[in-house]
Amino acid sequence: MVSTANPLAEAAVAVNDLVEATPAPKRRGTLLVVDDEDGPRQSLRVIFKGEYDLLMAEDGPTAIELAQKHDIDVAVLDIRMAGMSGIEVLERLKCVKPEMEAIMMTAFETTDTIRQALRLRACDYINKPFDIATMRDAVNQAMQRRKLESEIHSNAEKVQDLLVELQNQRIEEQIAKTRSDIYASIIHDINGPLAVIAGFVQVLNQRLDHSSRLEPEDLEFIKNRLGIIARQAGNCIEISRRYLGFLRRQPAESAPGVSVNQLLRDLEQIVRVHPSLLENEFDIMPLAGDAAVKINGTDVIQILLNLAVNAFQCASQPHRVEISGEALPAPLDLRKFKDGPHDRLLNIEGLDNTAPLVKFLVSDTGPGIPPEVLPKIFQPYFTTKEPRQGTGLGLNIVQRLIKQGNGALHCHTRAGEGTTFTIYLPGVELAK
Ligand SMILES: Nc1ncnc2c1ncn2[C@@H]1O[C@H](COP(=O)(O)OP(=O)(O)OP(=O)(O)O)[C@@H](O)[C@H]1O
Ligand SMILES: [Mg+2]
Repeated sequence: MVSTANPLAEAAVAVNDLVEATPAPKRRGTLLVVDDEDGPRQSLRVIFKGEYDLLMAEDGPTAIELAQKHDIDVAVLDIRMAGMSGIEVLERLKCVKPEMEAIMMTAFETTDTIRQALRLRACDYINKPFDIATMRDAVNQAMQRRKLESEIHSNAEKVQDLLVELQNQRIEEQIAKTRSDIYASIIHDINGPLAVIAGFVQVLNQRLDHSSRLEPEDLEFIKNRLGIIARQAGNCIEISRRYLGFLRRQPAESAPGVSVNQLLRDLEQIVRVHPSLLENEFDIMPLAGDAAVKINGTDVIQILLNLAVNAFQCASQPHRVEISGEALPAPLDLRKFKDGPHDRLLNIEGLDNTAPLVKFLVSDTGPGIPPEVLPKIFQPYFTTKEPRQGTGLGLNIVQRLIKQGNGALHCHTRAGEGTTFTIYLPGVELAK
């Protein structure tokens, strides 16, 4: 099959292939003869018996009964018959088989009767007694027309089926892609807590290796580290549970009003032992007064951790990374937000801009993001890191979590001056 960019053209080519590949089983046409005189019925039988399947009716009711039981392509009807007239039979037959072609046989009919027959979509009329060649031509042409019409009809149905199939295939592909993106996201986000767990297990092992007996301070040390490990393992479970819930299309649970300062303390614990911290300077500043956000606490930690890790990894030489928060008592003035070579906005139009709001800042003194890179940073799998160093999923996850939580993001960056990501999230009453 020739591949083209246009799906309709592809469908048409595919239908041709399909039609050629599966030719319809050959069926002889079926001809119905309706005449109350035996003579013409027998003549027509002799003329057409070699070419078509024949059905003979001597009156209207028999003709209608036959039409209900058989596929009829063409009918030849005498107009003048005892009982039901040919016109009446034609009208009734067209109700049963609207696609059937009809040829009327006329003797002394007025033009009015003929007009009436044509209105009922009779395709031809022939004078009686008929001439064999004329009759043969009329019936063959009517049969040909029926054949073409039924081919067009079945091809149109096939095109329709194929379009539905293409559509379904596209939906399937979309679902498969979403699934693989989600699996990649789970792995990406679980990596952070797993690195922390692995680090602490190593620390514990070293401590245990060097002591033959456990002193009370050793026990305290171990208990504290095990607490962190348990929290990180809980984070892994929470992350996978939420993603898997998304795969099963369960709506995200509405989050309780978790204290932002508690979240920042949890985040600090993770960051302080995170492998990407290295020699970098790191500071995390709580809110002056506490506040709470509407979105799930794990989502906030995931957003801030992804941004902090990016900030640590943006330069190989030591630099400074800072995280801070602020409660905003009034809605934002959205007019002051503008995209530009040094500014990138995300979901400003989707922000639930009702007070209270909570603002988080993640800033670094790294090299900044070049204007040609800035528009791409939220694209899935976009990374400027070396192969195997980054998946390019971090900011895509951040983007999804922010949109899901009806929040917004502003990235401000300048070469040589560093980068600041500002996140705005809808706030709620702090749970007592
Ligand atoms: N603070 C920052 N300073 C400079 N560049 C940044 C910063 N944050 C993000 N970027 C740029 O955005 C790109 C995409 O970031 P993203 O978090 O999506 O993926 P990644 O960090 O490259 O990979 P992964 O998150 O899997 O480690 C980065 O490769 C980098 O070029
Ligand atoms: Mg990243």
